[in-house]
Amino acid sequence: MTEQFSKKAEAWSARFSEPVSDLVKRYTASVFFDKRLAEVDIQGSLAHADMLAHQNIITAEDYAAIQKGMAQIKEEIAAGKFLWLLDLEDVHLNIEKRLTELVGDAGKRLHTGRSRNDQVATDIRLYLRGAIDDICGLLRELRLALLTLAEQHTDTILPGFTHMQVAQPITFGHHVLAYVEMFGRDTERMQDCRKRVNRLPLGAAALAGTTFPIDRHHVAATLGFDDVCRNSLDAVSDRDFAIEFCAAAALVMTHISRMSEELVIWMSPRVGFIDIADRFCTGSSIMPQKKNPDVPELARGKTGRVNGHLIALLTLMKGQPLAYNKDNQEDKEPLFDTVDTLTDTLRIFADMAGGITVKPEAMRAAALQGYATATDLADYLVKRGLPFRDAHEAVALAVRHCVDQSIDLSDMTLEQLKAFSPLVEADVFEVLTLEGSVAARDHIGGTAPRQVRLAIAYLREQLG
Ligand code: ARG
Repeated sequence: MTEQFSKKAEAWSARFSEPVSDLVKRYTASVFFDKRLAEVDIQGSLAHADMLAHQNIITAEDYAAIQKGMAQIKEEIAAGKFLWLLDLEDVHLNIEKRLTELVGDAGKRLHTGRSRNDQVATDIRLYLRGAIDDICGLLRELRLALLTLAEQHTDTILPGFTHMQVAQPITFGHHVLAYVEMFGRDTERMQDCRKRVNRLPLGAAALAGTTFPIDRHHVAATLGFDDVCRNSLDAVSDRDFAIEFCAAAALVMTHISRMSEELVIWMSPRVGFIDIADRFCTGSSIMPQKKNPDVPELARGKTGRVNGHLIALLTLMKGQPLAYNKDNQEDKEPLFDTVDTLTDTLRIFADMAGGITVKPEAMRAAALQGYATATDLADYLVKRGLPFRDAHEAVALAVRHCVDQSIDLSDMTLEQLKAFSPLVEADVFEVLTLEGSVAARDHIGGTAPRQVRLAIAYLREQLG
């Protein structure tokens, strides 16, 4: 970028008799980070100018001049030739000043019936709406990538855990679909948050509205907002929508983090359930044998940063009286970083899902250790008339015997099993197998391969 920050002194108001110090200027300026709102700022200004012309508040000539000037400014910004001035504080004053340089008085008329307070609130909403749409697209891609992975492993069996102890055998496809559910709820939350983002603050002016005969619905329609904010004080001071977004983002990252934790565990040579493609891993500068799952680890780490942004915004708002306060300028960096972190993370995870190699033999070997089919044996006895608690006790004794002998339940002979319950017959071995165990959980939400295939078909149809 060839952008520059000029020090050229530029008084912005005749109200002041002494200039602010350089330190205060730097402290209060936001142009370093809010210049990324330039595009939406121009979009909002053009919609405002269009309405002003429609309402005969400015002339058609002024509107045309504003359009022309803004087109040039856009080009200058895109080409990295726009001179951002620190003295002009923020993105809004920088653009307005340049417009006036380019088109004269028409530029000075743009701010009629408007304040930076409703202007910035509009900009953030426009920006965030676009970001939410991108994020929903990325969530969709991630879910599709996970569906493909699940599809390849509807019949692959691994141990399911509770308390990190082997619990019951499950199918890997089923495990992956759990994340597809989480990211589905995340998508719903984002879409719900978007409803409250997509309301127009412009027209609230500084805080009380304006004396000009504005048409807020006209601006809302031009900018694609569903409605206008109904109270001018609330319109300029509300940042709930940004907090909601960060909360939804924190949950997405929480899901990403849980998944990352599993990927890291699964890739550990001790477990060896999966391998992650080299392009998502790095080596060690000292240990030549190492292949580290850096991407999932980093994503787990970045979750902390997004959670921090949520707390930052909540804390930013909690003590603010109505209406706008300069505190609100601090909303941008946490919000931008949340969007950037989430966007990059989702993009990389959608790609990484396709780079996971599953090792079914290792999963199977692990499922065979740990008496994962003990519940199946208990259920078998219940189906033969034993009350569940008694069945539980009989199987607990059988497992204890197996632990002592270092054998699996399925290693016992029929006679040995009968010693724990006379209800056991030869067909018991069907339920003691891993395949029998998973196939038996054949209801909606269950781990049976048949159900996993049905769930995938349902989700694919939903995702379109
Ligand atoms: N840079 C400011 C912000 O980010 C714009 C609004 C400034 N309004 C004001 N009255 N100083 O919030």
